[in-house]
Amino acid sequence: MTRAVCPGSFDPVTWGHLDVIGRAARIVDQLVVAVGGNVSKTGLFTAAERVEMVTEQCRQWPNVTVEPLSGLLVDFCRRHEAALIVKGVRARDIGYETQMAHMNAHLTGVDTVFLPAAPQWSYVSSTLVREVAALGGDISGLVPDPVERRVRERIDRS
Ligand code: PNS
Repeated sequence: MTRAVCPGSFDPVTWGHLDVIGRAARIVDQLVVAVGGNVSKTGLFTAAERVEMVTEQCRQWPNVTVEPLSGLLVDFCRRHEAALIVKGVRARDIGYETQMAHMNAHLTGVDTVFLPAAPQWSYVSSTLVREVAALGGDISGLVPDPVERRVRERIDRS
């Protein structure tokens, strides 16, 4: 049985993330989505809120579970007995993602498989979604409707 970990900040979760998660869920037997990162002040949602939103969106895949990630990703992989990391990448991310993949392999030998972002989502990032939403732009079509509502609420409150 193959169990893999798909890590990310998901602040907020986008259609690009969900496309990668769905494709990864078809490749491996079990996928654990690790919701971590984003300790920066520019973040929109708390870890608990991001876990909740990702969990809601991943209900459609019975072999996907969602867990908070704190500490090192490789320790998370060890705890979940996962020998593989699956990461969605856009062309511009490949350098840093490769560096992280090498570091994770160096730390524990866990290997990383990159899934290229689907062309229709290649320009979508959580950072841009937050920026567009904060400046009054339309983020529908970039994130699921319930996520869009939560982003709007959060921005309206701040
Ligand atoms: O959505 P992101 O920003 O690409 O996610 C980044 C994340 C959460 C995957 C990355 O920051 C991470 O792996 N954090 C866990 C801490 C860790 O293991 N750091 C060393 C990475 S080599």
